[in-house]
Amino acid sequence: MTLAESRTSSATAHPLAMTSAAEVDTVREVLTEAGLLTEHVRYAFFAPEEPPKSEVLAGDECDRRFRAVLLDLATGRSWDTVVSTQTRSVVSQRELDPPRDGQPPIIDTEFEMIEDILNADAGWLGALRERGIEPASVRAVPLSAGVYDYPDEVGRRIVRAFGFRQDHERDHPWAHPIDGLVAYVDLTRRTVDRIVDEAPHPVPATSGNFDDPQVQGPPLDSLKPIEITQPHGRSFTVEDGHVRWGKWDLRIGFNEREGLTLHQIAFDDRPICYRASVAEMVVPYADPAPVRFWQNYFDCGEYMFARYADSLQLGCDCLGDILYTDVVVADDLGNPRTISNAICMHEEDYGVLWKHTDMFTGSRETRRQRRLVISFFTPIGNYDYGFYWYLYLDGTIELECKATGIVFTSGTPGEYATEIAPGLGAPFHQHLFSARLDMTVDGERNAVDEVEAARVPMGEGNPYGNAFRRKVTRLSRESDAQRDADAASARVWHIVNPEKHNALGQPVGYVLHPTGQPTLLADDASSIASRAAFSTKALWVTAYDPAERYSAGDFVNQNPGGAGLPAWVQADRPVDGEDIVVWHTFGLTHFPRPEDWPVMPVDYTGFVLKPAGFFDRNPALDVPPTVSDHCSS
Ligand code: CO
Repeated sequence: MTLAESRTSSATAHPLAMTSAAEVDTVREVLTEAGLLTEHVRYAFFAPEEPPKSEVLAGDECDRRFRAVLLDLATGRSWDTVVSTQTRSVVSQRELDPPRDGQPPIIDTEFEMIEDILNADAGWLGALRERGIEPASVRAVPLSAGVYDYPDEVGRRIVRAFGFRQDHERDHPWAHPIDGLVAYVDLTRRTVDRIVDEAPHPVPATSGNFDDPQVQGPPLDSLKPIEITQPHGRSFTVEDGHVRWGKWDLRIGFNEREGLTLHQIAFDDRPICYRASVAEMVVPYADPAPVRFWQNYFDCGEYMFARYADSLQLGCDCLGDILYTDVVVADDLGNPRTISNAICMHEEDYGVLWKHTDMFTGSRETRRQRRLVISFFTPIGNYDYGFYWYLYLDGTIELECKATGIVFTSGTPGEYATEIAPGLGAPFHQHLFSARLDMTVDGERNAVDEVEAARVPMGEGNPYGNAFRRKVTRLSRESDAQRDADAASARVWHIVNPEKHNALGQPVGYVLHPTGQPTLLADDASSIASRAAFSTKALWVTAYDPAERYSAGDFVNQNPGGAGLPAWVQADRPVDGEDIVVWHTFGLTHFPRPEDWPVMPVDYTGFVLKPAGFFDRNPALDVPPTVSDHCSS
């Protein structure tokens, strides 16, 4: 029985319980009864509308609400609605003003119609014919358009499309980009607005068929199986989304925009984080060529990528004593769609936790670290992203993002791309993620200190010049709290509770360790810098507002820019000792390698949150020695 099936009545649901199929049905019925869901109207977004934090923490009975963004395919009009499944009513509805608000995300229906629109256009067909390419062999996807100097695009629902040649049914088209050609498409009129046709380039011919045994070569035969066994079963329990493991206690959630969400994360009954998610991500490309300068994909806000979450397979995606959880999303028609095995949970041995062999006492102690892994994987177009939250026995929280799949290709490797196969380019790009961390370190009132190492000049008090100290700067307002990482000074951010102290009199805290990799590399004056302003800083701190959820704003697709974080911090609210949200930008700057072709070995990025004075001593002293068939002690 799945989680969704076990709970048929929403009346008994925890305010943060995962969406059930019955709730998706109710929302659709309510929107239909209200006359909002008519023949040409499709869902462009659907997610639980969580109650404000104060109501959840107070243990109030909360209304179950869902947000649905509706798009009329025939007219291009769209509405942002909130529905209560408890009262079976539309709580709010607002028609979007696309030139100001942006457009709803790109939906499945539009993926399905893009090739038909292109194949009805004489300009597109002519450009293919000129290249000697059969239109039926060309695959295309609706790529988010961004906002550029095209006044005629304002307020219209636009995507841009490249063609990729597919030589047979099993052939991966990404290997055969038809470069020098891009179509600008109006999705409402279903017409091509404009064809940009540069001089034809040869279409790269090398196979990208990494799943073809001929391409793979004979299998490596020296690898013996690895099996993970837990003879006494797993050590965690999950009950209607409520997870308990060791001293950890939390809830899991899922929505199509952020994917996995963690809620009310606590250790030893002490709260640490009320809600943690990846609230946005963007993949900006570096190639300024006339056909591709506009390539920037917000996989959360423009594509709702977690609606494509993979159904994971035991033994392939996940190894060990696994607990899978199904999730329910809504399809374009508002029907529930269950993604089985979407969330994977298991324990992992993680090497040595602590150890000492003492020269004086003869003491010889070792404890093994382990972590609870909560993860999901989602493909979006050519790429695949994995999001792995790790909780460790010593109170550490980590997010690891995995990027794999197929790099985006071009047929013109040049200054801004790597030639990864003969004639095949992979333009440079970044993957920039925005974690939204609604911190509640031992309570709701928190503050952030920037802490870094500072050299001390040789002189009085430092006669031999060996000194270095810790420089602590409190970030007191939103305007102070827009910070860059600096690996050279070991810069970290301590999220402290100024009202709670440990036994040593220090404010309890958790420290955010950034990787210190680059934020957005595009020019400050670029369109993407304004539309993805969150990605220009490694850290933002804002005052909590339940309406402030998505780093680049609610409607990212064709958003003119300035939405989300840059808009909210205009108020310059105090963040010292307030109910605050920490936003962390992290990611990969990807100069593709030949080894990334034809399928990319996983690349990693993420961040770590470690207790810093949250405990009075090592909180993992009580971890018992390992009892194992393989450990003789
Ligand atoms: Co990449």
